[in-house]
Amino acid sequence: MSFDRFDDPPLGFTAVRPSWDDLPGELRDFVTTLVGSAIVGVDVQSGGFTPGVAARLGLADDRVFIKAIPDDHVLAAKYRTEAETAGRLPIGAPSPRLRWHGTAAGWVILIFDDVDGRHPDLTPGSPDVSIVTSALSGMAALLTPSPIPDLPLASTGRIHQLRGWGDLALSPPEDLGGWERLHLQALADLETRWTRDADGTTLVHGDIRPDNLLITATDATAIVVDWAQPCRGASWQDITDLVPHLIMAGHSAEAAEKALTGHPSWDLATPEVITSYAAAFAGYWTRMSRQPAPPGVPHLRGYQRRAAAAAIAWTMYRTNW
Ligand SMILES: Nc1ncnc2c1ncn2[C@@H]1O[C@H](COP(=O)(O)OP(=O)(O)O)[C@@H](O)[C@H]1O
Ligand SMILES: [Mg+2]
Repeated sequence: MSFDRFDDPPLGFTAVRPSWDDLPGELRDFVTTLVGSAIVGVDVQSGGFTPGVAARLGLADDRVFIKAIPDDHVLAAKYRTEAETAGRLPIGAPSPRLRWHGTAAGWVILIFDDVDGRHPDLTPGSPDVSIVTSALSGMAALLTPSPIPDLPLASTGRIHQLRGWGDLALSPPEDLGGWERLHLQALADLETRWTRDADGTTLVHGDIRPDNLLITATDATAIVVDWAQPCRGASWQDITDLVPHLIMAGHSAEAAEKALTGHPSWDLATPEVITSYAAAFAGYWTRMSRQPAPPGVPHLRGYQRRAAAAAIAWTMYRTNW
């Protein structure tokens, strides 16, 4: 199966973000006062999906990272969740420190320590693969038990999102692939079983993708950003989320899974659960890629088509269907 048949930007670089100068003066003035310095450089980040501000700000003798979105935007609640989560991560978590968050000038604003880094290269043979898997393994251990107890359980928090075949089976789209059509009902039955083994005591990030990971320039460690959809669950979820991304980056499904071997959070997961989880991702992306593009995010659906192809390859490998 080919993953480069769509004319898309690089994986995960789908956001079209406002430039600093496009922002309301009141917001820029507020941030300038808050950080206590003139802003001498702005590096808008293209990674991610939300159309809010995401920029590295150069200050007179420091750097910060800012995320902001209008208070009445449909995604503002996610920014607030991220602020609540990031602000409660323990020392030692591989994530940037949240310096400040709040609402001003009609915008939800988060200010983090700036990370000088790049997104991981997940292609076969890249050293980043083991850097990232080890970091996620360590993170799962550190975040068990969850330092934030009052989070939705994974089985209820994630099931609304991470599924698709059941919906598609109600009214199969004309352009559904032959394999998907042939196995549609079986995939619909399979895609929810992972929830039986999804709950646990770990703080699960819930959105592990290359654009939410950074490899630091100074010491090549992996940093996890964007804690906008956390839940409490079993520890296999975050590390397993890498599999479709490893496949998109050129691994076979077998090689992608092999890259996780030896990490307890992966080794302890039952095979049936992983097979169902693969089907859930395939269903989710297959369903979502057929939705109209949300305003301000023109490349999202193309990315989801590629992701669906990867997750379908993973599901084929695991089911032998
Ligand atoms: N603290 C940080 N320092 C430097 N760059 C960051 C930081 N946090 C995120 N980024 C970069 O900004 C991008 C968007 O941030 P992210 O929090 O993922 O926003 P979104 O919710 O829009 O996906 C990331 O893909 C990453 O490249
Ligand atoms: Mg992101």
